[in-house]
Amino acid sequence: MSAPKYLAIVKKIEALIRSGQFTEGSQLPTHRELAQQLGTTPITVAKAYKTLAERKLIESFVGRGSFVCNHSQLSDVIRAESSETEKNLSILQPCLSQHSERLNQAFSQILNRGNEALYGYVEHTGLARHRLMGAMWARHYGLEVTDHHDVVLASGAQHALSALIQCYTQPGDTIAVEALTYPGILSMANMLGRKVVAIAMDADGMLPQALDDLCQSSDIAMVMIVPSHQNPTAATMPAERRQQIAAVINRHRIWLVEDDIYGFLNPQPIAAITNFAPQYSFHITSLSKAISPGMRCAFIKTPATESERLAAFIRATIWLPSPVPFAAAAILIHSGEAFRIAKEQRQIALRRQQLAREQLAEFTLYSQPDSYHLWLELPAYWQADAFTLAAKNRGILVSSASYFKADPQAVTPNAIRLSLMAIENEAALVSTLKQLAELLKRDTRFDYVHC
Ligand SMILES: Cc1ncc(COP(=O)(O)O)c(C=O)c1O
Repeated sequence: MSAPKYLAIVKKIEALIRSGQFTEGSQLPTHRELAQQLGTTPITVAKAYKTLAERKLIESFVGRGSFVCNHSQLSDVIRAESSETEKNLSILQPCLSQHSERLNQAFSQILNRGNEALYGYVEHTGLARHRLMGAMWARHYGLEVTDHHDVVLASGAQHALSALIQCYTQPGDTIAVEALTYPGILSMANMLGRKVVAIAMDADGMLPQALDDLCQSSDIAMVMIVPSHQNPTAATMPAERRQQIAAVINRHRIWLVEDDIYGFLNPQPIAAITNFAPQYSFHITSLSKAISPGMRCAFIKTPATESERLAAFIRATIWLPSPVPFAAAAILIHSGEAFRIAKEQRQIALRRQQLAREQLAEFTLYSQPDSYHLWLELPAYWQADAFTLAAKNRGILVSSASYFKADPQAVTPNAIRLSLMAIENEAALVSTLKQLAELLKRDTRFDYVHC
């Protein structure tokens, strides 16, 4: 029996995309056009396009058509490089030029000191001094940590997240996450064969009752939460909500991963959820957002019983995170410079939030006054993916709500995330926001002539 016709179409188009003949962003023929060309029905072509969309090779927009998309979900949202022509409102990183000289000094201090031990194999748990500095950093922003032996080093928060998923869950297990969440969690869980279940949120983050209900009705192996300046909604959990979440964790005795990478942006420290459920909670901090993503320095505070198990996992996978950047981090934390840099970045974020609110005054925006990013509700005539594509065609990178959906079947919120920090130059940021506002105001629904 021959393969269904729609699969032959899928195979052909996939080959054209992979060979580069259909380039990223190019428009595919309509269902009717392709059906005519191939002597088949529009329904068969629609079925083929649906399969291609499920494989994330194309994106289809009602009324606009189908377009070739990027292969990697993550690379679409998080773009490290920004060419001259691209105005990057998609990557969440600090304004590095502000303190790159101080980073240079910290690194040259290590080299000048001739600290050869750092070039060899050091303790796989990380050097005691570096773990102490990690405890100091996290404590400053609301974590209760008394024993540095409970702190394990990781090469960035993404490494911490993946190590925790692999060490504390099994393939096939279910991880509960915020309904809209950091795509790095989604892609990691997906790659490792873990299921993800979306928990409803409100303006204060994950809803404790929704989490409780789910834990009662199904087997949840782990809960992952970003409690401060949540990525992408910028929601920050108030203290009371944190205690309610911790009560659910304690009641059901499930692992919690609290990814507090943006905690340094809170005007006052807020007690970590981990403080109220220390037996079950892993708390992650990282220097990526406050100081430098390139340093790859993250700290995981584990339950007292778990640091050895996690350290053994890290040893088995990467042996140890490089001690060199941690030595620079320790210099910065010990001298207080790290906290000053973090405070400066918060001041920049505060100012940029004000600038963005001036430029985008007509639109509905969600954020804290000092978040790195904004969650922007699009006017009803724009759809999130279509807007993202239209912005990209004008050289502006934004992140569509669809990238953050934990439940792929859920309706995509009509929103985008804008990072205000990746464009270093303030005037360039304002001009990019102006262009974005113009595009947002344009109702392009009727730009197309329908034949
Ligand atoms: C919530 C969250 N966790 C983790 C990361 C990754 O951080 P790192 O660069 O430390 O791996 C990001 C980066 O955007 C993030 O937003």
